[in-house]
Amino acid sequence: MIHTITLTRPDDWHLHLRDGDQMRAVLPYTASRFARAIIMPNLRPPIVTTDMALAYRTRILAALPPDLQSGFEPLMTLYLTDHTSPSEIIRAKESGIVHGVKLYPAGATTHSDAGVTDLARCHAALEAMQKVNLPLLVHGEVTDPAVDVFDREKVFIDRVLSPLIWHFQNLRVVFEHITTRDAVTFVKEASRQVAASITAHHLLLNRNAIFQGGIRPHHFCLPVLKRESHRQALIEAATGGNPKFFSGTDSAPHSQSNKENACGCAGIFTAHAAIELYAQVFDQANALDKLEAFVSFHGADFYQLPRNRDHITLGKENWIVSERLTFAGDSLIPFCAGEILTWKIA
Ligand code: NCD
Ligand code: ZN
Repeated sequence: MIHTITLTRPDDWHLHLRDGDQMRAVLPYTASRFARAIIMPNLRPPIVTTDMALAYRTRILAALPPDLQSGFEPLMTLYLTDHTSPSEIIRAKESGIVHGVKLYPAGATTHSDAGVTDLARCHAALEAMQKVNLPLLVHGEVTDPAVDVFDREKVFIDRVLSPLIWHFQNLRVVFEHITTRDAVTFVKEASRQVAASITAHHLLLNRNAIFQGGIRPHHFCLPVLKRESHRQALIEAATGGNPKFFSGTDSAPHSQSNKENACGCAGIFTAHAAIELYAQVFDQANALDKLEAFVSFHGADFYQLPRNRDHITLGKENWIVSERLTFAGDSLIPFCAGEILTWKIA
């Protein structure tokens, strides 16, 4: 039996850091595990210009605790809107600090009201991204209220993503936080320009977790958890060694009061144990030998960034997750609160 594993330091290819005191509360969890993270732009107001991304990056670096000052690199993104101009895309690329542009269909998820209403409005920006080689990061769900919430990813593939990648054949696209067998198949069959991130919580839970003994707001995220057969497909994809699939936690902190609410926010916070949770998944699947490529190589290669050079070590050791964390004057309920996890950072 394996008792420790040493990995090239991993990266998180999809992270919500928020801002201000909330960011200061959650950033150390990520920065002490990961070398880099793709930082989501869905602040209020959203990060829509390179100048805003530069300023946000400066705030993140300033919020790093002294012992983590030199060890963490935030990889910034822009929030695509109906009005994103080709010149803004060029500015973003030339800045060297923006690594992707995020497509949120308007109304799809938390703080996405400024999102794209119709992709046809974004063609000039998408042309520019294709030309300057700046990836499109996609929240892959339709917002049509007539579509069942569990089918929104599949319908997005058919209605939006397939036509998009057919039209922009050289655009690099990350299908983010995929949740279905349909998405796995689609990404496998698509060109080399298309890849996908997978969260730890979609690998660990199926949709029964939302209703286990009552309504469980801390298991509600978007895209919503799916049935077990989809989870199995995600595990096969993550542990299968295919370079198109890589880690992206989608760790999304919300205060306890905003989660435990008659209209609770979508988002699961996993940053406190992100790499440990992925290790648990790979261990359960007897695939620990595939973990390093999934968390440390595939994403870097897709984003055309160098692989990290330092390492982290995980040991097989039980530990109990805190019941709650402090979060800017409020509390934050972490994923697996009060439960035992089986891998620990050395
Ligand atoms: C994210 C958030 O809270 O910002 N929520 C979530 O459920 N994943 C937004 C997102 O990535 O969809
Ligand atoms: Zn997200």
